[in-house]
Amino acid sequence: MNILVTGGAGFIGSHLVRRLLGHDHAVVNLDALKYSGNLENLSDVADHPRYRFVQGDICEAKTVEEVLRDHRIEAVINCAAETHVDRSILDPSAFARTDVVGTGVLLEEARRAGVMRFLQVSTDEVYGSVETGHSRETDLLAPRSPYAASKAGGDLLALSYWTTYRFPVLVTRGSNTYGPNQYPEKFIPLFVTNAIEDQPLPLYGDGRNRRDWLSVFDHCAAIEHVLQHGEPGTVYNVGGGNEEENLTVAEAILSHLDKSKSLIRFVEDRPGPDRRHAVDCSRARALGWTPVVPFEQGLRDTIDWYRTQTAWWRKIKTGEFKAYYEQMYGKRLQQGVKG
Ligand code: TYD
Repeated sequence: MNILVTGGAGFIGSHLVRRLLGHDHAVVNLDALKYSGNLENLSDVADHPRYRFVQGDICEAKTVEEVLRDHRIEAVINCAAETHVDRSILDPSAFARTDVVGTGVLLEEARRAGVMRFLQVSTDEVYGSVETGHSRETDLLAPRSPYAASKAGGDLLALSYWTTYRFPVLVTRGSNTYGPNQYPEKFIPLFVTNAIEDQPLPLYGDGRNRRDWLSVFDHCAAIEHVLQHGEPGTVYNVGGGNEEENLTVAEAILSHLDKSKSLIRFVEDRPGPDRRHAVDCSRARALGWTPVVPFEQGLRDTIDWYRTQTAWWRKIKTGEFKAYYEQMYGKRLQQGVKG
């Protein structure tokens, strides 16, 4: 198939582009190259004969229309998004623009162009904080951050295109994804790179928030599987089945890097933090997908990647990221947890 992957220079998108090229698809990567888009993530496939890169924004209808037409796109996978909860607290409007308006533009242009499959990469954060049990696809959405609410908007807009137009959309709601090439604002790469540099690890609240960790390789396998085999108009939860407290993950990172636990600093949590996310993935499993990367192995491989690819993340951490880090963590690290 001729597949358009939006946000293909980002973390999940770049792994997906590589995977699809490996499975004989032709892939166009449309990416605006904002702060976390990085073409270095795809340097190994930049000259691949079935790969094309187009710099552009999913909010620009004309750009999207041209890409769909010029490359005779048959399927769209929307990975383009603003994705970090902390940044959504600083600048919510960027999230509404890309995650809601951008998804709307992409859906409309894809529908007009007669695209055959449209997969919206959503998130388990749309369910909100889940104190007990596991979210099912039929549960009510209760997003709590501007990020989660914007993703819920894009997710529901996609589903409305099935109800209203019978446009064949699919939605995946993935859990916390980790792996190589993840921008170091997120929990695991931030803690790994800080630990390598003997910098404090800012652990929010009591460190006992829980997440279900999903390898980026398992996540991309799920996206490809759902694109090929999913029922149009259907949502599929995708989780790794590795639920852990943040404190446990932080300690595992330090232990693997042979660093002291004293690097952990408990700092004030986000406003309105989600205590726990957990998804029931029986629908995706019934479709034939199953995660295969054990968390211990996946985490170790990820840590080793950051340990060897220091040039990749040092360039990021000494650039735009520095001001963000200071704004987000400077005061918190000085104050510690409010008693
Ligand atoms: P994150 O990677 O931002 O993903 P999300 O909030 O979308 O689940 O955070 C994962 C968990 O780690 C979450 O409970 C917040 C916590 N966390 C910290 O304790 N310190 C940090 O510096 C970051 C970025 C996250």
